Formats: sequence, C-alpha cells, structure tokens
Amino acid sequence: MKISILSLFPQMFEVFNHSIVGKARMNNYVDIEIINIRDFSNNKHNKVDDYPFGGGAGMLMSVEPIYNSICYARRNLDGRVIYLGPRGDTFNQNKAYELSDNNHLIFLCGHYEGIDERSYNFIDEEISLGDFILTGGEMAAIPIIDSIVRLLSGVINKNSLDNESFTNDLMDFPQYTRPREFMGIAVPNVLLSGNHKEIDKWRREESLKITRKYKRYLLKDK
Ligand SMILES: C[S@@+](CC[C@H](N)C(=O)[O-])C[C@H]1O[C@@H](n2cnc3c(N)ncnc32)[C@H](O)[C@@H]1O
Repeated sequence: MKISILSLFPQMFEVFNHSIVGKARMNNYVDIEIINIRDFSNNKHNKVDDYPFGGGAGMLMSVEPIYNSICYARRNLDGRVIYLGPRGDTFNQNKAYELSDNNHLIFLCGHYEGIDERSYNFIDEEISLGDFILTGGEMAAIPIIDSIVRLLSGVINKNSLDNESFTNDLMDFPQYTRPREFMGIAVPNVLLSGNHKEIDKWRREESLKITRKYKRYLLKDK
C-alpha cells in the first residue's frame, strides 16, 4: 500500500519511523510519502494561507497549493483523497479495515482555520477523529494511519488481529503474564490449567462480559 500525507508540518510524522509503522516501512509493507504542501505554493514567499473573505479570525489554507499537492501525490498512482476534518464520519475499526484495502490513500491535513471550501471539489471523503477540534489534521492522521498500517497483511501476526477489540464486534478478553500472583491478586486458575478448550470458553465469556459492560452497542445479536 502507498500512503501520501499532505501537510504543512511534515516533521510531525517523525513518529512513523518507529514501532510497528516504522518496521512496516522498512519491510516494504507500506510506502509512506510525506509531502509538504508549502512546496506547491505558486506564491514567491511560499505562502499557503490567506485572510478569509468577509473577515473573521485566523487564516485559511488556500486552495491552489492543496490542489497542486494532490495532483503531485497522484502523479504515478491514482489515489483516494481523504481530508481529516470535523465534518466527516467518526473513524472506527471497520473504517480502518475498509481503508486498508486500498492501493493508495492520500491524507490531506488542514491547519489554522481550515481549508478554502473549494478544496472539497478535489477531496473524495472527510474523516473525523471525533466531535472535538484539533489544532491540525496531522493529529488525526497519525492514529488513523497507524490503525490502518497494522492491518496490512504481514505487518502483525494474524492471530493477534483476530482477537483484537472491535474485531467480530467484541472487546478483547483479559490477559495476564508473570508473576502468577501480585499483591494477593492471582491469575485466574483456568489460564494455568493447560486445558485449551476451557481457556477458549473462558475467554469468549469474558469478552462478552466486557463488551456488555463497556460497549453494549456492539452486541447486536449476541
Ligand atoms: C483548528 S482546526 C479548524 C477548525 C474549523 N475552523 C472548525 O471550526 O470546524 C484545523 C484543522 O484541524 C483538523 N481537525 C480539526 N478537528 C478535527 C477532527 N475532529 N478530526 C479530524 N481533523 C480535525 C482539520 O484538518 C482542520 O482543518
């Protein structure tokens, strides 16, 4: 998969040199290209923002550098342009799975007061991180891209993904590691029994219990 990120603050994506995403890049499961929108300004001072017509506080990102950087991102490979913004549907795990099935995703990060409304003519979809306002789309792009990359084939062990929270509309079951007892709190006996049929049964029941308690809306027909 290829991921292009269009941003005025490319240095914020240093985080993608580490952990799972860093390894996925190194092993060529994903090609992440970070494009500085400022490089696509036709203005002699590389200006990418301007005052809003009609007045008002703050600056707005201009449409021309946005359009030019989208064209650049698509130069070799067409791609789905996603604007990170508060109007979009709120991101979730099902959306992460859906997006992980694309060849090329292009994430446009807004900043300041946002983007000139005409930019929407060149955007396929808007995705929100939630009903709150972030300083910039970078803050939303980072967790969204992380959640997509870890679903790409080969990046993470498939068994780990199959049991993860939200997969199959269930939350993950409780897990324990050594020591067997800590401050009088013991690991459930069943997990030490070696009986895998009983362990699977216990885990399934615990998953259901936790889902019922914390995310009841996931349990449509369970
Ligand atoms: C300060 S915000 C602009 C907010 C805009 N004036 C408004 O009130 O809707 C700057 C940028 O952050 C990003 N952003 C803000 N909230 C977001 C959210 N909930 N999800 C995803 N991106 C968000 C968008 O790219 C936006 O252009």
